[in-house]
Amino acid sequence: MVGLFDIGILVVQLSLACLLLCSSASTAQHTLGAGSSLSVEDQPRPFLVSPDGTFSCGFLQAGDNAFTFSIWFTADRSSTAVWSANRDAPVNGRGSSRVTFRRDGELALADANGTTVWSTKTGGSKKSLAVSLRDTGNLVITDTSTGRATWQSFDWPTDTLLPSQPFTKNTKLVAGYYSLYFDNDNVLRMLYDGPEIASIYWPYPGVSVFNNGRTNYNSSRIAILDDTGVFQSSDQAKGEASDLGLGIKRRLTMEQDGNVRMYSLNASTGGWAVTWLALKVPCQAHGLCGRNGLCEYQPSLRCSCPPGYVINDSRDWRKGCKPTFAVGNCSRGAPPPERYKFIKVPHTDFYGFDLWYNESVTFKQCRDMCRNMCQCTAFSYRINGGGKCYPKGTLFNGFTAANFDGIIYFKVPQDFNASALQVSSQSAGGLMCSPNVTVVNVSADVYGMAPRSSGKWTYLFAFAGVLGLLDLLFIATGWWFLSSKQSIPSSLEAGYRMLMTSQFRRFTYRELRDATGNFKEELGRGGSGVVYRGVLDGGKVVAVKRLEAIDVTTRGDEEFWAEMTVLGRINHINLVRIWGFCSERKHKLLVYEYVDNQSLDRHLFEEAGGGKTTTTTLAWSDRYKIALGTARGLAYLHHECLEWVIHCDVKPENILLTREFDAKIADFGLAKLSKRDGAAGVELTHMRGTSGYMAPEWALNLPINAKVDVYSFGIVLLEIVVGGRIADQRTEAGERLQLPQITQVLRHVVDSGDVMSLVDARLQGQFNPRQAMEMVRISLACMEDRSSRPTMDDIAKSLTAFDDEDEHPAYHS
Ligand SMILES: *[C@@H]1O[C@H](CO)[C@@H](O)[C@H](O)[C@H]1NC(C)=O
Ligand SMILES: *[C@@H]1O[C@H](CO)[C@@H](O)[C@H](O)[C@H]1NC(C)=O
Ligand SMILES: *[C@@H]1O[C@H](CO)[C@@H](O)[C@H](O)[C@H]1NC(C)=O
Ligand SMILES: *[C@@H]1O[C@H](CO)[C@@H](O)[C@H](O)[C@H]1NC(C)=O
Ligand SMILES: *[C@@H]1O[C@H](CO)[C@@H](O)[C@H](O)[C@H]1NC(C)=O
Ligand SMILES: *[C@@H]1O[C@H](CO)[C@@H](O)[C@H](O)[C@H]1NC(C)=O
Ligand SMILES: *[C@@H]1O[C@H](CO)[C@@H](O)[C@H](O)[C@H]1NC(C)=O
Ligand SMILES: *[C@@H]1O[C@H](CO)[C@@H](O)[C@H](O)[C@H]1NC(C)=O
Ligand SMILES: *[C@@H]1O[C@H](CO)[C@@H](O)[C@H](O)[C@H]1NC(C)=O
Ligand SMILES: *[C@@H]1O[C@H](CO)[C@@H](O)[C@H](O)[C@H]1NC(C)=O
Repeated sequence: MVGLFDIGILVVQLSLACLLLCSSASTAQHTLGAGSSLSVEDQPRPFLVSPDGTFSCGFLQAGDNAFTFSIWFTADRSSTAVWSANRDAPVNGRGSSRVTFRRDGELALADANGTTVWSTKTGGSKKSLAVSLRDTGNLVITDTSTGRATWQSFDWPTDTLLPSQPFTKNTKLVAGYYSLYFDNDNVLRMLYDGPEIASIYWPYPGVSVFNNGRTNYNSSRIAILDDTGVFQSSDQAKGEASDLGLGIKRRLTMEQDGNVRMYSLNASTGGWAVTWLALKVPCQAHGLCGRNGLCEYQPSLRCSCPPGYVINDSRDWRKGCKPTFAVGNCSRGAPPPERYKFIKVPHTDFYGFDLWYNESVTFKQCRDMCRNMCQCTAFSYRINGGGKCYPKGTLFNGFTAANFDGIIYFKVPQDFNASALQVSSQSAGGLMCSPNVTVVNVSADVYGMAPRSSGKWTYLFAFAGVLGLLDLLFIATGWWFLSSKQSIPSSLEAGYRMLMTSQFRRFTYRELRDATGNFKEELGRGGSGVVYRGVLDGGKVVAVKRLEAIDVTTRGDEEFWAEMTVLGRINHINLVRIWGFCSERKHKLLVYEYVDNQSLDRHLFEEAGGGKTTTTTLAWSDRYKIALGTARGLAYLHHECLEWVIHCDVKPENILLTREFDAKIADFGLAKLSKRDGAAGVELTHMRGTSGYMAPEWALNLPINAKVDVYSFGIVLLEIVVGGRIADQRTEAGERLQLPQITQVLRHVVDSGDVMSLVDARLQGQFNPRQAMEMVRISLACMEDRSSRPTMDDIAKSLTAFDDEDEHPAYHS
């Protein structure tokens, strides 16, 4: 009775407090006595708040109807849990899931059906106990008479270490298959412990503990993150926050991608910034791409399959890739040795699992050894060091990196056709990007292709990314062409008829072969295909893109049709038009509008007289027109169109120009499409982008939304003003400008009004300073934290407002 009464009083007190000061966290308690409890349905009211308000403790939503009892930074906009009682067993959000500080001193969490899913196991005490949340983020149960702690959350970290929280030989940070812990030899390590293999990947296992700058002589096994942002371990592992200093709220978190990152909380925005990370080479983490999979980081994590291997489970890269032929199989029925050949893939290796290791052998000996061993699936050979040969059995921990000079040779059947390859590549773990889309041949990138340098087999596979979202498209656009009949062929037929009434049409292969003079004049080339110039029967000039990365066996005509139905309907003056397509057996081609005055980068970055084409500097009025057109095209994609197209690769190479310098955005056809209702943003299965134009959130584990385009547009806008690549700008010391420095410069320009200093000198003062200032202002806004970035609609409106200005009114400098 008394207990109930106490709870009653507490509830009344809390509700009263809440009535008075509901939005303020200070209404919550710092300490609670026995008998207190909180139901999940009271969420978001915290259970406890630390005395200075830094931390809150209570229920956090972990899924649709799933909640964890957690601690978080009160000021964190996204309430990231820094500790959870029941991370792996969330409780039901409806009903009476409840955390209770019982009379006997046990803090326990019960699910709606009454099951105790977690408890501190401190029950049975006769003493007077209290539970409190400290300013360090430590949840503590203390004996009120002695002040001694009987239990504290600091002893049971989940994936996060807080400043002053000791990390000891008894604690571990765990995220998925990854953990950070002190090993028996006193070294702080990171381990991948997956379903098939387990291996240590940090410190780098290829060299000794000492060569990694560690020691195993200090047995204290303690590490601590201090208040200034220094993480120091007794084995001499050390990390320093880039914003070193007191007064910043930080955390150190083991993450699902196997990296440990230090974050600083931005007090004004409530967002987190990465200020240190343990693995500078993210693919160093093991297990990311599964068996046979290859990990690549450029500039975000991506998985792909080697030649002849296909993704095992498209929803989960950790399931790796499987060979399309028999290899490494010693059972009878596998082809004999002479039926195998090898495919060479540079810059690539698999860590560990060598069948043996042999020095001083010739390449041929090494190859023959692998050929003759049935279990050998590939070998690596290094000339430096006197011919080291590493035949591989199982392939795990694969990575590929431009600066890695090892070569791997994959064993494939003799009749394996490498040029007919199609490689699936996809980002790992939800986020992620395409292969290195850095431009090798500028004109080649007009249609957004991967560079040739990444090898013939690393196809971008962007098209498959689109196909993967097909289901979603059907849902999103079903109203458009789905008749009451559920049969897909008939609905596609309806879509087809709809399209035939517009200018969009289907071409025969023959027609396109003739139009392009048997694919003679190449306009560009890349991962998803080669683009040729063509002239149709009526004399209309077109760009024909031949898609090479289509898996002919699984991508049927109908799917391709559906695809085209969507692309064909996108129609805006500032977007490159798709006139039609061809799908005949293995031939898949797209027919685009031909835009004759090349891409923006050619006009903006090439020195007059420097290139083949003597271009004069783009006049200011043309620059403004291009900026406005690009903004309108993107606004259409984001807002008007079907409300779900994100371009993901906005850059000058993808902005084509007409003779009148109207901007036309190319390559949105391969852009990823996204649902809009997801409040948390969209999880894209496959992404791409170009370094220098990619929003910072690509590098963080955040869902991607249309704001990535806004960021890239901000960079392009600035480049239009400056007349040079932002990524090429240097400080006086010759270092690359980092984002904070760029925004600092822009902020200075906006504050001082001195836009002249920034504008392309080649214009010799012939520009409109009000327009330029507006562009700088917008560009700056685009580089903000993404929640603060304007939408493309806002931007198009702002630019339109300054459109009717004189071309270049007198500028007095
Ligand atoms: C209670 O619900 C959880 C899931 O919410 C379930 O795992 C558990 O088995 C249930 N226990 C009983 C006793 O029904
Ligand atoms: C071992 O590490 C601890 C914590 O970093 C340090 O205080 C101590 O001096 C070290 N001991 C030796 C012998 O280096
Ligand atoms: C992409 O590839 C190019 C050419 O191979 C290379 O120069 C560049 O450094 C790579 N970029 C990244 C971000 O890896
Ligand atoms: C493919 O995935 C399944 C589980 O989905 C797994 O059992 C199998 O080993 C995987 N194959 C390879 C080659 O990794
Ligand atoms: C090896 O080859 C045999 C015969 O072709 C096949 O039955 C078996 O499944 C293969 N085993 C593996 C692990 O691929
Ligand atoms: C290394 O290669 C040589 C020459 O092929 C061979 O004689 C030797 O047995 C090999 N050593 C091992 C450990 O396999
Ligand atoms: C391999 O595939 C390519 C492209 O599909 C084709 O042109 C070539 O003839 C094929 N070669 C062989 C030997 O089958
Ligand atoms: C771009 O590639 C095409 C086709 O390979 C080639 O003809 C052209 O010379 C290249 N342009 C430059 C600037 O390298
Ligand atoms: C772009 O168009 C202008 C105007 O028609 C023309 O003078 C110029 O030569 C074109 N530039 C290029 C690079 O095609
Ligand atoms: C916090 O974010 C705002 C807006 O993005 C930025 O202006 C400010 O510099 C950030 N503060 C810190 C300490 O990074």
